[in-house]
Amino acid sequence: MPRSMRALVAAEVGEPADVLRLESLPVPAPEAGQALIRVKATPVHASDLHVLRGRYGFSAEFPTVGGHMECVGRIEALGPDTEGLRVGERVVAAAVPAVPGPQAAGTWQEYLVADTRRLLPVPDRLSDSSACQLAVNPLTALLLVTRELDVRPGEWLLQTAAGSTVGRLVIQLSRHLGIRTINVVRRRGAVEEIKALGGDEVICTEDEDLVQRVAETAGPAGVRKAVDCVAGPVGAQVSQALAPGGEVVVYGALSTHRQTDPAALTIPLQARSVIYETKAVRGFWLNRWFGAASPEDAMRALSEVRGLVVDGVLSIPQGRPFPLERFAEAVALAESPAHGTKPLFVFEDGRDEEGGDEDDR
Ligand SMILES: NC(=O)c1ccc[n+]([C@@H]2O[C@H](COP(=O)([O-])OP(=O)(O)OC[C@H]3O[C@@H](n4cnc5c(N)ncnc54)[C@H](OP(=O)(O)O)[C@@H]3O)[C@@H](O)[C@H]2O)c1
Repeated sequence: MPRSMRALVAAEVGEPADVLRLESLPVPAPEAGQALIRVKATPVHASDLHVLRGRYGFSAEFPTVGGHMECVGRIEALGPDTEGLRVGERVVAAAVPAVPGPQAAGTWQEYLVADTRRLLPVPDRLSDSSACQLAVNPLTALLLVTRELDVRPGEWLLQTAAGSTVGRLVIQLSRHLGIRTINVVRRRGAVEEIKALGGDEVICTEDEDLVQRVAETAGPAGVRKAVDCVAGPVGAQVSQALAPGGEVVVYGALSTHRQTDPAALTIPLQARSVIYETKAVRGFWLNRWFGAASPEDAMRALSEVRGLVVDGVLSIPQGRPFPLERFAEAVALAESPAHGTKPLFVFEDGRDEEGGDEDDR
């Protein structure tokens, strides 16, 4: 095993493309209850970029290695007091730091140490692209639909940014569970794609009125459950479109992707509607969920997600691979409009080929 490795390190808070540097760091040694993982692939999420900008829900200690959420890799070594895992095993590491709690090691590096209670073995037929994206977006989709809102078969679920990775997974999961979806997109070009994916109704905010279209679609009973990751005026329209007693779970703020525009970070609610129609607007954050869930419950939920992906119920869009050296391109792609695919940092380990879920795209 080499003594040093390549890592993408930010010395200080700032714009990721400006502050990230490719550096050489010592390979860490696993302590009790930890495994050393040789990383194979790890995504670039917008939330990873918010951490580097100092605008996420927790503050990283700088210098920090980028990529705070998830990766797939092979166990290179095990520390003392580890059970049930073996060296060479391919695992997903849910690096998502719990809040409050210790910050996780960044994933944008060749090796990292991880708590073995946060490692999920994955079968060879799951590609690196799918495996490295398992722990954040598919888990979020599952938790939002089944645990946060407990949407029942036949019910309507309204969601924004339906073309996002989470949005696509919500559509697939909803179809599987017999839930009907009303999907909001911002571009007309995305409408047919969402329908082809199985979205029951699609509303395009480019040229349609969200509140009016929801009323036309759902009829007098209305829609009682919604998830929103756009916030701002769109989030407000979602709350307005809800039936009395309805609830919307806000889990993102894409209206101001870099979270710099205070007006777009605000969701202007109509007090009369919230009070007299007893509507609820509340948040969801996977980090907080991980902080509250027991390691066993977290692994149970992750295993459920793994099963849904392996069985083909959920198909995670194929990521676009980048070597660490091309981090500026990867970071730019992660937030560019209509990017369609998620940038992934990939590492060659020469020991096995890419896994086989051919249909994940
Ligand atoms: N709270 C949590 O724990 C949690 C967990 C996972 C994800 N998230 C959040 O969920 C959101 C989606 O994540 P993702 O990884 O699925 O995203 P993604 O795959 O990168 O896709 C981003 C999507 O958002 C759309 N979009 C961007 N800006 C928009 C705007 N101003 N108005 C409407 N749509 C907009 C894009 O549409 P175009 O195709 O038109 O560009 C694209 O479909 C992000 O905000 C992320 O931070 C939160």
